[in-house]
Amino acid sequence: MTLQLRVYVPDHPLIKHWLAIARDENTPSVLFKTAMTELGRWLTYEAARHWLPTIDMTIKTPLAQCPATLVNPTVPIAVIPILRAGLALLDGAQTLLPLASIYHLGVVRNEESLEASCYLNKLPEQFTPQTRILILDPMLATGGSIMLTMAEIINRGGDPALTQIVSVVAAPPALRLLSEKYPSLNIYTAIIDEGLNSKGYIVPGLGDAGDRAFGT
Ligand code: PRP
Ligand code: URA
Repeated sequence: MTLQLRVYVPDHPLIKHWLAIARDENTPSVLFKTAMTELGRWLTYEAARHWLPTIDMTIKTPLAQCPATLVNPTVPIAVIPILRAGLALLDGAQTLLPLASIYHLGVVRNEESLEASCYLNKLPEQFTPQTRILILDPMLATGGSIMLTMAEIINRGGDPALTQIVSVVAAPPALRLLSEKYPSLNIYTAIIDEGLNSKGYIVPGLGDAGDRAFGT
């Protein structure tokens, strides 16, 4: 069986709405952060659909026994926000995954060379084999940052088949790199944009996500 990267762009009015707010150059930082929180929430909701482990059991209502399905609390869930911009998605994701462990990863790209480097790594030394991993990074542009992130996760035993990415705007160069190296990945994004400008920014994109989220 050949695997193929799956990129989901959920057709949902709330996702479209908050993407429009985030894209608008007139949106102030505080509202931009709200838009990111909401996109983190709704895209994580979509991503959880076939990824969150469940357990079937029988429970007793006040009237009778019935079958029930619960989120399985014994399977570890790891959420990895890619600093800085990925932090803006975290509040929304965390409301849906309250039991997840949060592992921060600081990745920055050099604005001249566009090369990504890691300045903070709070990943565990080893992921347990069943760990469900959710990466939060709103912008997938050249792909340098997400490829570095994936390499760090794989080095620690993370399974790409149990890994999903929540982004807001994805561009073809990043999707191409991910598809070549990690075809079993699932990506949830609000939009796939057409490409990058000469400085590596996504067009039309939404500008610098980190600067806009934190007012810098
Ligand atoms: C942004 C964004 C991604 C990265 C994507 O981070 O949050 O992590 O760029 O670009 P790439 O696909 O070309 O690597 P940035 O380096 O601007 O850091 P920040 O989040 O601290 O602003
Ligand atoms: N990082 C951003 O924040 N925006 C882009 O358009 C590309 C990378």
